[in-house]
Amino acid sequence: MDLVLVLVLTLSCLLLFSLWRQSSGRWKLPPGPTPLPIIGNFLQIDVKNIYQSLTNFSKTYGPVFTLYFGSQPTVVLYGYKAVKEALIDHGEEFSGRGRLPIFNKLFEGQGLGFSHGNVWKVTRHFTINTLRTLGMGKRSIEVKVQEEAQCLVKELMKTNGSPCDPKFIMGYAPCNVICSIVFQKRFGYEDKNFINLVEKVEECVKILSSPWLQVCNVFPLLLDYCPGSHNLLFKNFKFIKSFVMEKIKEHEELLDVTNPQDFIDYFLIQRSQANQQLNYTLEHLTVLVIDLIFGGTETLSSSIRFAFLLLMKHPHITAKVQEEIDNVIGRHRSPCMQDRNHMPYTNAMVHEVQRFIDLSPNNLAHELTCDTKFRDYFIPKGTMVMTSLTSVLYDSKEFPNPETFDPGHFLDGNGNFKKSDYFMPFSAGKRMCVGESLARMELFLFLTTILQNFKLKSLVDPADIDITPVYSGFSSVPPTYQMCFIPV
Ligand code: HEM
Ligand SMILES: *[C@@H]1O[C@H](CO)[C@@H](O)[C@H](O)[C@H]1NC(C)=O
Ligand SMILES: *[C@@H]1O[C@H](CO)[C@@H](O)[C@H](O)[C@H]1NC(C)=O
Repeated sequence: MDLVLVLVLTLSCLLLFSLWRQSSGRWKLPPGPTPLPIIGNFLQIDVKNIYQSLTNFSKTYGPVFTLYFGSQPTVVLYGYKAVKEALIDHGEEFSGRGRLPIFNKLFEGQGLGFSHGNVWKVTRHFTINTLRTLGMGKRSIEVKVQEEAQCLVKELMKTNGSPCDPKFIMGYAPCNVICSIVFQKRFGYEDKNFINLVEKVEECVKILSSPWLQVCNVFPLLLDYCPGSHNLLFKNFKFIKSFVMEKIKEHEELLDVTNPQDFIDYFLIQRSQANQQLNYTLEHLTVLVIDLIFGGTETLSSSIRFAFLLLMKHPHITAKVQEEIDNVIGRHRSPCMQDRNHMPYTNAMVHEVQRFIDLSPNNLAHELTCDTKFRDYFIPKGTMVMTSLTSVLYDSKEFPNPETFDPGHFLDGNGNFKKSDYFMPFSAGKRMCVGESLARMELFLFLTTILQNFKLKSLVDPADIDITPVYSGFSSVPPTYQMCFIPV
């Protein structure tokens, strides 16, 4: 009896304390549901359906509200206006990266995606410049993507139209594009080491998106004291790291300062020059390369596997795309980026795939880089920020019937391609994806090249195809399935 009383008293004190902390001082956080001590709003959020929970909260509290994950407040931005106002109009303040325990443990603040402050600024500047020098968004990378697309076709031909799981093959091609940029080397699809790399990356992203890891991020002690999939994650990460480090060592030995060939060469040269801002360790370079591999492999593989499901589920849309390919490209040459200007329907289809699958529903977490006045609120430096990209991509005014897969969302009345500011699958502002133009090139060239050469055949009735993601934590993961590639 006494124990219960003590417990109740302690809990109410904690509750009062957290309420007091919330309302006290010079800060004014956006409104939100009342948090419980220690666990915050955790019980009020449906981890399996985060978007619906956010939608419900936004109806009560408006487009800017506060949720407590554990004892940490997170400002949530919901809808185009709030997201744009934060990421673009207040770009500098909102450009920090949220410090999630799992990413801290994996990346230790190094590299690009999960680094902070000046390290991030210098690394981002270097990365974007170097990718450009190496031809991102230009003809030289386009040629590499076209070649990789032909390798993909050859590999798919080997299946002879029999059922296969497209999972790994679809990871090989984008991973090879990144490898050719960072290592100046693509790998054969039968190379054991390479296959291992792609499988490990795939597994990491899947674990990172599982509900368990979302729980670990709120209660980080679990990471140290519990058995669970995160241990496999750390093991895989170690493998990927040693793979990359070995390649960096080879580069160091063979480096010709007068003739840099790839991303690693440029880093090594910059690092060795006096008065350069980029004076970082090889550990930093390793993490940076992993950022590019992680960023550029699973995202594309998942997008393409979702795209196949959508194309098989909607045969009339696929027929229109294939007709456009026949008319503009024909059967006898490889698709190129120039073609996109003459293929509004295909272009719209690729945009619609990215909108519909909503690969990164809540974006990567951001963090405020300084004390910030935002709308009527005054929010301290270091506060976590979550931007709901779903709420932008599924805006029902901009995209009528957002739950329907319809390339018409990106076409005007005359069938011309129509741009939309709401197209934010790569986020926006200063943290926006550095691989955007490469990713869009790969999506267009891989999809058109495959559709030029194959008819996609589902093993189940198109109407029964299920496109519900298996996980959608930090990234949506498509379901596992089999399909046939029938040569045309
Ligand atoms: C369909 C493909 C892709 C999608 C949907 C995607 C999406 C995203 C998103 C939503 C972010 C977070 C932006 C933010 O924090 O506001 C991001 C960041 C990033 N992406 Fe991508 N991405 C894709 C492909 C790529 C590719 C091909 C690369 C490699 C070149 C890449 C490398 C990165 C990196 C390094 C970051 C971290 C940037 C930073 O923190 O400054 N991504 N991406
Ligand atoms: C959202 O609100 C609706 C109706 O108010 C309710 O039925 C539903 O369970 C809520 N969903 C979540 C995930 O909170
Ligand atoms: C890089 O920094 C270290 C110390 O952080 C310093 O000793 C070294 O001289 C620097 N190298 C260059 C090339 O600036």
